[in-house]
Amino acid sequence: MSLTGKHILSCDLFDRDTLEHLFELADTLTAVSRGEMVTRVLEGAVMGSLFFEPSTRTRLSFDSAFMRLGGAVSNTTGISISSISKGESLTDTSRVVSGYFDILVIRHPEENSVHEFAQATHIPVINGGNGAGEHPTQALLDMYTLRREFARLGKTIDGSRIALVGDLRYGRTVHSLLKLLSLYKELTIVCVSPQTLHMPEALLKIAAGRGHRIEETSSPGTGMRNADVVYTTRIQKERFPESETSISYSDEFRVDSTLVNRVCRPDTVIMHPLPRDSREGANDLSTDLNNDSRLAIFRQTDSGIPTRMALFATVLGVADQVRASLRPANWYRPTYVGPHDAPFYKGNTR
Ligand code: NCD
Repeated sequence: MSLTGKHILSCDLFDRDTLEHLFELADTLTAVSRGEMVTRVLEGAVMGSLFFEPSTRTRLSFDSAFMRLGGAVSNTTGISISSISKGESLTDTSRVVSGYFDILVIRHPEENSVHEFAQATHIPVINGGNGAGEHPTQALLDMYTLRREFARLGKTIDGSRIALVGDLRYGRTVHSLLKLLSLYKELTIVCVSPQTLHMPEALLKIAAGRGHRIEETSSPGTGMRNADVVYTTRIQKERFPESETSISYSDEFRVDSTLVNRVCRPDTVIMHPLPRDSREGANDLSTDLNNDSRLAIFRQTDSGIPTRMALFATVLGVADQVRASLRPANWYRPTYVGPHDAPFYKGNTR
């Protein structure tokens, strides 16, 4: 299926072949994301980035990806500084900015926002997160990370056991991820959440309908046992209705080295879309795993650049020009980007 000119609003759009094409292109673009090679396939193109909700990595990595392809980026952040605060509809905003840019990335707290935005324009719109709905590019980079991790470990995603842990009700990253995982074969998907924060039934149906085995539990110790992947998430308190604001993760949900060493395997991949809440009592993914090479969170964030580059190049129809456009970069880059980077993971392959 061709993605050229398409809006990327939901993971419903992808099939396994399309994913594989994107991931192969991301492999090629990894050298660009690491500052080893340069490409200018999007020279002259301008991306409009509209973030009406907090973001660090998604916004910055979309920007970096577009700029590393040679394009330029223009940003607006927050509702208060945009004309939406003057009562402008998303439809009007969308049509207006479509005259300025070649592609748009939008994040908004309401679920139907990105669809409304996309309906008002023929410029491709990429969903950077629509409320508790979806976050398709996070799922793409998560699957891309998984594909790399499994290749390194000599395992296949098909047939694996994946534990999704935490706020599965409001966490949009796991909604998108479940849809992409469903494209693989014979998975066991273990949904581990507090009682009130279950994965939505409709999403479970999609996965079950594609032949996957679904298990549900509220005990991380049970659900994470022998998993090939443990995907943890932050509790999405900002999306809770007033009546539920007192719900929080119990101590059991603190995924730390004690729990991981007790129930996980030496080759379990531990993931989180980030940000993780490191405040006392938050019981999110613990920083005491930072030196554990099973922790793939920074390999995930690094994967965000080649994955988003691959998506931009594909949606804007220049994917087949990438390979021939590459030339070496000459500036300094360290071999390992982070002090905790696993020995097998070099940030720079030069
Ligand atoms: C996530 C999001 O915004 O949905 N962050 C991200 O984009 N990596 C997860 C979160 O905020 O908990």
